[in-house]
Amino acid sequence: MIQAKIAEILESDQFLQEFHIRGWVRSFRSNRFIALNDGSTINNLQCVIDFENTSEETLKRINVGAAISVKGTLQESQGSQQRVEVEVQELKILGDANPDEVKLTILSPKKHSLEKLREQAHLRVRTNTFGAVMRLRSKLSFAVHKYFQEKNFYYVNTPIITGSDAEGAGEMFKVTAMDLKNPSKNEDGSINYKDDFFGKETNLTVSGQLEAETFALALGQVYTFGPTFRAENSNTSRHLAEFWMIEPEVAFCDLDGNMDLAEDFIKYVIKYVLENCQEDLEFLNKRFVTENNAKPKLERSEMDLLEKLNFVLDNNFKRVSYTEAIEILKNSKPNKKKKFNYIIEEWGADLQSEHERFLVEKHFKSPVILFDYPAKIKAFYMRLNEDGKTVRAMDILFPGIGEIVGGSQREERLDVLKEKMQELNIPEEELWWYLDTRKFGTCVHSGFGLGFERLVQFATGMSNIRDVIPFPRTPQNAEF
Ligand code: 4AD
Ligand code: MG
Repeated sequence: MIQAKIAEILESDQFLQEFHIRGWVRSFRSNRFIALNDGSTINNLQCVIDFENTSEETLKRINVGAAISVKGTLQESQGSQQRVEVEVQELKILGDANPDEVKLTILSPKKHSLEKLREQAHLRVRTNTFGAVMRLRSKLSFAVHKYFQEKNFYYVNTPIITGSDAEGAGEMFKVTAMDLKNPSKNEDGSINYKDDFFGKETNLTVSGQLEAETFALALGQVYTFGPTFRAENSNTSRHLAEFWMIEPEVAFCDLDGNMDLAEDFIKYVIKYVLENCQEDLEFLNKRFVTENNAKPKLERSEMDLLEKLNFVLDNNFKRVSYTEAIEILKNSKPNKKKKFNYIIEEWGADLQSEHERFLVEKHFKSPVILFDYPAKIKAFYMRLNEDGKTVRAMDILFPGIGEIVGGSQREERLDVLKEKMQELNIPEEELWWYLDTRKFGTCVHSGFGLGFERLVQFATGMSNIRDVIPFPRTPQNAEF
């Protein structure tokens, strides 16, 4: 790993060390200077070859994209671009890359649009931007586990294939079983998909919450971190059909405790990447600033990426009830430029993303936790307040992202929960096991779901969610 090795050598101040590195050629100029990258860092390592003593055949094969092995000595660099470079003594080509074919791909050394890069998701991770984003995503995943493990939460793996719709939104992918070796055929010759593998209709999970609740009511505090699937047909920069969600669930914890946990958790993971991904964040910060300046029509962010991340660490999230938020929106002025009226006339209406962005970016200029939503616009499992019309729900809204967390205190009272399910036509037979938790030692408990890609979006400053997951799944798109 270039990064680790160089850091070690710089620290020991023992230059002229024998150095062995394998990686991919990013550029080759003047038949002499190779920029080599092994994926461990945003910084390429300059490898200087003695072309007079390198065979013609080898020189021809040092092409952008090729995998090579280099042995040589690490030296202080003459150039101003880098501190160290390798003077090559031995170079081997491990895997060729034909320049005529490379030219047709996004590996060709010119600026490609993010849309173009998406078409070649299998290669885009070799670019600086995606290398940085994917390294950061990996570190963030680690920080998620580190946080909960340090706090003695248990990691629970909830099922991917489920028989229930946790959110009751009806946006699920159906799972069908098929014997590929021996497909049974219908009379017309078409394949007969067997629906009876599980003996009931099944789908890909939209959330592991209900199963996690059963674990919280036994192990105390648990979390999930896994893929979830939603068949919502929304082509936006914040929605994926397959995304990763982190769902902690805590027994004997009310909504206030839930808000504290969510805020503390988000701050911890952001702090972790600020401390452990400096190089990549500096690169992404520069990219963020140039992108924002290159598009003056977009609303410019007042802060750069690093300032935004530090702002989140240094400030309390504003906690505001839905009813207070509606009052603020009622008294707001319409946005003439965007021709959008922020005013909400009616208590009870769901907030659109423009409303959320107004509250976060214009009014509070801070992350916001909205709580106590109208029961009618939220899921069946949320705890009903004494007013009989609001529930103990919370959404955390972030600048540039909108909703990053959705959570609640759960309805722990069996009779109230049953009544709510009846009202929404959710059959008790379907959730008998969930209802059991309310029969045997029920207690106050709460949890939330954080969309991992939205967090990665925030931490990297990438504007489209498709650019923070290795292989995005969106409507009409599952190429890879
Ligand atoms: O608000 P949601 O739907 O909440 C739940 O699923 C609860 N069961 C969570 C819980 O309380 N355990 O989703 C939670 C979060 C959202 O705030 C958002 O960040 C993310 O998941 N999310 C999506 N991210 C990407 N693409 C989508 N289609 C998403 N839908 C939700
Ligand atoms: Mg939500």
